[in-house]
Amino acid sequence: MNLKVSSFDEYKQVYKQSVEQPEQFWDGIAENFLWRKKWDKTLEWNFKEPNVKWFQGGKLNITENCLDRHLETLGDTPAIIWEPNDPSEDHRILTYRQLFDKVCQFANVLKNNNVKKGDRICIYMPMVPELAIAILACARIGAIHSVVFGGFSAQSIADRIQDADCSLVITCDGAFRGAKDIPLKNVIDDALVTCPSVKKVIVLTRTRTPVAMLKGRDVWWEDEIKKVETQRNTTCEPEEMDAEDMLFILYTSGSTGKPKGVVHTCGGYMVYAGYTFANTFQYEPGEVYFCTADIGWITGHSYIVYGPLSQGATSLMFEGIPTFPNAGRFWDIVAKFKVNILYTAPTAIRSLMSFGDSFVEGKDLSSLKKLGTVGEPINEEAWHWYDEKVGHGKCPIVDTWWQTENGGHMITPIAGITPTKPGYAMLPLPGIQPVLVDEKGEVIEGNGVSGNLCIRFPWPGMIRTTYGDHERCRQAYFATYPDMYFTGDGCLRDEDGYYRITGRVDDVLNVSGHRIGTAEVENAINMHSSVVESAVVGYPHDIKGQGVYAFVVSPNVHGNEDLTRKDIIMTVSRIIGAIAKPDKIQFVSGLPKTRSGKIMRRILRKIAEGETSNLGDTSTLLDPGVVEEIKSGAL
Ligand code: WTA
Repeated sequence: MNLKVSSFDEYKQVYKQSVEQPEQFWDGIAENFLWRKKWDKTLEWNFKEPNVKWFQGGKLNITENCLDRHLETLGDTPAIIWEPNDPSEDHRILTYRQLFDKVCQFANVLKNNNVKKGDRICIYMPMVPELAIAILACARIGAIHSVVFGGFSAQSIADRIQDADCSLVITCDGAFRGAKDIPLKNVIDDALVTCPSVKKVIVLTRTRTPVAMLKGRDVWWEDEIKKVETQRNTTCEPEEMDAEDMLFILYTSGSTGKPKGVVHTCGGYMVYAGYTFANTFQYEPGEVYFCTADIGWITGHSYIVYGPLSQGATSLMFEGIPTFPNAGRFWDIVAKFKVNILYTAPTAIRSLMSFGDSFVEGKDLSSLKKLGTVGEPINEEAWHWYDEKVGHGKCPIVDTWWQTENGGHMITPIAGITPTKPGYAMLPLPGIQPVLVDEKGEVIEGNGVSGNLCIRFPWPGMIRTTYGDHERCRQAYFATYPDMYFTGDGCLRDEDGYYRITGRVDDVLNVSGHRIGTAEVENAINMHSSVVESAVVGYPHDIKGQGVYAFVVSPNVHGNEDLTRKDIIMTVSRIIGAIAKPDKIQFVSGLPKTRSGKIMRRILRKIAEGETSNLGDTSTLLDPGVVEEIKSGAL
């Protein structure tokens, strides 16, 4: 069976088959991949425990699908094109052959440093080709990677390293981001003070920032490579993995507690990342594909590394930011490498829009054929700007809805094949069965309805567990509605049956496409010495989609509110990272609470949104007076 559908009629027919005979459908999809041994059983599942197993008995190594199997036909084809932060520095191209060699080499480095199948490896690196190489090298030898986004603080890294009990860290001396130079190794050094499980740190040179190198623990990437270069055999045999062996852990925020380690497994994830990449983007051999995400997030895992490489695609990796040296950078990159497919975030589009059209007009964007967005709802204005100014009205836009827990696209147009509509993720991919449910968990049938978005049948790329705490996985995704995976998103199905994601219905914010738990931010704010308690909600933000609004009870602001605000922001940066910094901090004398002590977030959300005229029923509040005070002090 073909990974791609080629017409809307075929989509409808394949979709129907995928619902009626899901196992047969997925068997057909999985046959497009290289297995060392075919699976015995396609699917075993229940959403109660949950227990989901795909392709049991199958043996594979995902890197054989991403590298080895392309060598003969695509050995000289670019696998990765890398564009540096500074446009005056040379770009790099790694062909499939070169990438294969480098992955094998670094896999041997890991082995030399005692890394074994099943070990957890933390990767904290900027967007350089060595990041992709490190990920693939882990997968090659069956080590489990846990990539941590470069914007997280030492404390966040330490939490993640401890949770997964990582034995080795791969990092860089520093990272270039726009005009800034970020000392990554320093951050790792701070993190490792509380991480005794880490025995080795491999440090790649990038910025030549001075770094402390501890004897016995820290080694240079370049020195380690030299050691394996002298080995006669520079290949590295792939470890044979079971389909359900862990491939990676990626931490993501939920509505409660600390971020959880979402676990993906080898077989199902491989099939799902490859299938969705090929189908959604309708990738054709030779096309240059540019996903602007960071590999620190799921989008980069699935759609810079594993999905495109599994399909023999040319994946462009960009180290910098959209606005450096100016807001025309994306368009310069598109022109320079004749990019055919561009996949970016609504927040980037809105930010570039705000600089005016002069940066995009006159750029040679004639190579573009297909456009995509991911990570958050896109407003119509940004959709039209993308369509007109970037796509020149001739490129289909795929608004891809999915989550870290999903592994790959779930509801999305298929480029040029199925219809599109601004702000709509449209239709589920074949194999995906979305349902809308009401508060009571009753399935809402028919069209022209809204509800909470659930998925009622497993798919190969879905989360298997949260690392080290299976019960947490059950609670977070499978306990709200019986026998369904609950996404946490609200959704509308219009009269034509097209889906539009309306945003999170739980206490998770989506700030510039980054998921942030309000509870996490509150915990961080509460760590500031003068804070008694706080409540964090989102509010509409022109560029970021959502901004972070914090209501803070802090009796001693030392007569200087501004300074205290800055101190609180610094505290949040320390505890979580700069991405979670509150945009607004309002000091209040108390929070609106029910008699049982529960914070009425609904009221705070309305105030943060500037909708103070109708706050609904406040009579159940312990102290209704506090609402008036908060309203009048709103920022
Ligand atoms: C949101 C990112 C609207 C949604 C791949 C989801 C979207 C969360 C879209 C997952 C979209 C993602 N339209 N909302 N096309 N894509 N979201 O785990 O709220 O970082 O639950 O995965 O982003 O974020 P995550």
